[in-house]
Amino acid sequence: MPAGSDCRLVVLVSGGGTNLQALLDASADPSYGATVVAVGADRDDIEGLARAERAGVPTFVRKVDQFTSRGHWDSTLTDTVAAFEPDLVVLAGFMKLVGPEFLGRFAGRVVNTHPALCPSFPGTSGPADALAYGVKVTGATLFVVDEGVDTGPIIAQTVVPVQDDDDVASLHERIKVAERQMLVDTVGRIARDGFTINDRKVRIG
Ligand code: GRF
Repeated sequence: MPAGSDCRLVVLVSGGGTNLQALLDASADPSYGATVVAVGADRDDIEGLARAERAGVPTFVRKVDQFTSRGHWDSTLTDTVAAFEPDLVVLAGFMKLVGPEFLGRFAGRVVNTHPALCPSFPGTSGPADALAYGVKVTGATLFVVDEGVDTGPIIAQTVVPVQDDDDVASLHERIKVAERQMLVDTVGRIARDGFTINDRKVRIG
């Protein structure tokens, strides 16, 4: 992704949207270099959408079960996101795998944040799986989305300790504090300086 003027972000969410909120807060400063131009979701009535509405950012919802097939959902989601002309699409707690049409249209411009240190503990229960395994550190990973589940080229990682008395909620909350900081810092750097990928190695600037 080349460096640009003000980077247009479309953010997709499925839940509380604290990562989205961190991006909305950061982009209030013009020197951040990126603006959230739309927020999409795969479900209604979530705090993530309410956060966007309070910030005056347009929202949309595309639920898989509204469509005759997963492909039709993917196609409609692709067209809806494309209408906002994003430079970068940020999946921030979006609990669906985007499909081939989406990845084709926004190739190399879709990033996702995962609450574990990839390639460990992919999928929807990263904090629980890390806790069950007994690791002493875990964290979060920002990566460029590919066809796999949390397998794309890694842009940034942040590490947090696992404490002896952690449960899944306390561990995930500690991860999320670090994750939000990593997301804001890294998306800002990408927006201002661009990035390249060579043989899986991501270089910013
Ligand atoms: C984040 O930890 C994200 O990595 C995971 O779900 C959480 C979403 O948090 N997939 P929020 O909705 O941004 O508060």
